[in-house]
Amino acid sequence: MTPTAVVVLAAGRGVRMRSTLPKVLHLAAGRPLIDRVLETARAVLGPGGGPLVVVVGAGREAVASHVLAVEPAATIAVQDPPRGTGDAVRAAAAHLAGAERVVVLSGDVPLLGPATVRSLLAHLEGNPGVPVAFLTAVLAEPSPYGRVVRSTKGTVLMIVEEKDASAVELALHEVNAGVYAFERPFLDGALPRLDTANAQGEYYLTDVLAMAVESGRPAHGIPVRDAAEILGVNSRAELARVDGLLRARVAEAALDAGATLVRPETITLDDGVALAPDCVLEPFTALYGATRVGPGTRVGQGSILSDTVLGAGVTVKPYCVIEKAVVADGAVVGPFARLREGTELAEGVHVGNFVETKKARLGAGAKANHLTYLGDTTIGERTNVGAGVITCNYDGFAKHRTTIGAGVFVGSDVQLVAPVTVGDGAVIGAGTTVTKDVPADALALSRVAQENQAQGGARYRERKGPGARPGPDRS
Ligand code: UD1
Ligand code: CA
Repeated sequence: MTPTAVVVLAAGRGVRMRSTLPKVLHLAAGRPLIDRVLETARAVLGPGGGPLVVVVGAGREAVASHVLAVEPAATIAVQDPPRGTGDAVRAAAAHLAGAERVVVLSGDVPLLGPATVRSLLAHLEGNPGVPVAFLTAVLAEPSPYGRVVRSTKGTVLMIVEEKDASAVELALHEVNAGVYAFERPFLDGALPRLDTANAQGEYYLTDVLAMAVESGRPAHGIPVRDAAEILGVNSRAELARVDGLLRARVAEAALDAGATLVRPETITLDDGVALAPDCVLEPFTALYGATRVGPGTRVGQGSILSDTVLGAGVTVKPYCVIEKAVVADGAVVGPFARLREGTELAEGVHVGNFVETKKARLGAGAKANHLTYLGDTTIGERTNVGAGVITCNYDGFAKHRTTIGAGVFVGSDVQLVAPVTVGDGAVIGAGTTVTKDVPADALALSRVAQENQAQGGARYRERKGPGARPGPDRS
């Protein structure tokens, strides 16, 4: 027999979020709420352990496909329509494969860690005869949680939901975390006895605790050490609070690991960002997704990085926007550069202000320092790209590649009409429109020869009126 199954409840409508997105897919510190719960469930079960049943209902296609992408071994149970947490566990019952104990987690309680769940399970195992143990917390502000009602001797009598509570019950500060460990026979006996005689007309899972008392074997309510762990997300305000707590944890871990955060309260870090020792994040930087920053690398003020890898000793100057790019050691980027998806900068590359790159690979030591667009481009080592160079990668129908060799000099204001290839060591004169391949070491020029008309400037002014001088634009 499998000792333990975990059921994750994720079928609720999440009405208080006022959202078309299912609640458990909302992001906290860049990760869907349910991902953290699945991670905890997996850690409790151990690799290959199971069953892990996720109950879906509202928005079930989106939730189920996300769950299976993150945790392919999960079993999806459908609860349609969602009629309460007790009804949700009923929907999971068919998939529990003879487990002796059942842990129930809520998809909207994302900060709960595996150690706490393990200790809850250990409590159940260590107290034969106790049919259910559940987590509680004592909160200064207990709303909107279900309150734990105990006898004067401390026996758990029941959980009462806020909407059903009397004034006396509302004043109780011990709340139900929505995390339970059940003995299977008790759970199987209790679930069919639930009813909907309550303020919300739902099958409350919490009602099984009163059944435990009736059976003469009351539940054990175990207070958690850190009340933050049991925070539930029901509203945007609660989501914002959880998001803030998680980001603060990520920042603290980064500081402990040797990163410098200048004015950390202004810095935004997703859970999943990795910072190496001696990197520096200046104020108002934001690092999202799986961004990694190497040792000794500096990210300048106001820069925004998503799913980007920066090597060692990289300098990102202020106000760069970098997405899905890989930047090798010693490169210098910005200020005001925009590196888009598929950008790969090799060692020592310089990309300067107002340069945009997309699917562009720049070889070691290459430079593009001013006002340039490089799209669908490969550039060799040590090539210099002058100011205002543009790869014309789109012909109105399809994208085409520009390939530039090593040691090439591309003069200012050159357009490269793709598809086009420039050989190693070529020189392209300023203002040239490159429409044909340029062989290695060739000089490419496509501009009209300059003509100087003696006194032509003076004649031009006379045509504008006697004694006229060009002046500032006053429009
Ligand atoms: C629940 C508890 C409450 C506890 C709180 C802790 C009940 C009746 N109340 O209240 O005592 O303090 O959690 O966070 O259990 N869900 C389903 N199907 C449904 C309804 C809900 O799967 O029909 C899922 C939701 O998606 C969510 C979880 O169960 O992940 C909890 O549901 P929610 O409606 O948020 O319950 P609370 O009112 O927070
Ligand atoms: Ca909830």
